[in-house]
Amino acid sequence: MTHDQATRSNEAGSELHMHVVADYAEVSRMAADVITRVVQENPEAAITLPTGETPRGMYQELVRRIQDGVLDFSRVQFFCLDEYWGKGVDDETSLTAWLDDVFLRPAGLDSDHVHFVPSLALDPVEGAAAYEQEIERHGGLRLAVVGLGPNGHIGFNEPGSPVDSRTRVLELTKQSRNQNAAYYDGESSIPDKAMTMGIATILDADLIVLIVSGASKADILKATLEGPITADVPGSFLRTVGERLIAIVDQEAASKIS
Ligand code: F6R
Repeated sequence: MTHDQATRSNEAGSELHMHVVADYAEVSRMAADVITRVVQENPEAAITLPTGETPRGMYQELVRRIQDGVLDFSRVQFFCLDEYWGKGVDDETSLTAWLDDVFLRPAGLDSDHVHFVPSLALDPVEGAAAYEQEIERHGGLRLAVVGLGPNGHIGFNEPGSPVDSRTRVLELTKQSRNQNAAYYDGESSIPDKAMTMGIATILDADLIVLIVSGASKADILKATLEGPITADVPGSFLRTVGERLIAIVDQEAASKIS
């Protein structure tokens, strides 16, 4: 097991924690280690975790630990990060149904502790505000784990998302719809809108973990960590939180970082 830990200065002068690890398995294990530590220290923590390809290994690791009795998730308040607008957990093509299959059910999470993005709300503005209040009611996010989209999105905060954005409905880019086409029978059936926690919702978390794997993310990871901090690359806003950010990336993803 080789990994390289470094700290990198951000614009504000404080430092994010950067781990470049050998491969995907290491990213998964290290992300699971951070989550395990947070939950052991604060069993009732409010946390959000992403869907997608990158976290699959992390979820396998967490489920194994929970089933082995090493990790207790029963008191955690789990907040979903994002969802297609108009889809809910009962729709098998929703992100929440995917999460339910891959993590929530195998981990035996109590449904009372799982908070769904209000992607079916009659009034999206009211629904989004209520979701933000629900997070606050549970003490704010103790931990947010995010992946990085090929266009630099975090959650579904697409390019152009402001740093002060909160939970809301927004248009998905064609690139993101293509990215998610694998879950569907084609891009045409992917909703053109999503509801996501905002950039500010994520940045407010006490601890943020960015997980990135694979050569296909090398360019966007470089732009995220070394380019300008800009709404054109929403992930770049993560650098504004300094040492509250832990980036866990594999060597392939980090191959273009200087
Ligand atoms: C998913 C999410 C997205 C993904 C990102 C990376 O809930 O919020 O931001 O984390 O698109 O996706 P993968 O891991 O599939 O490359």
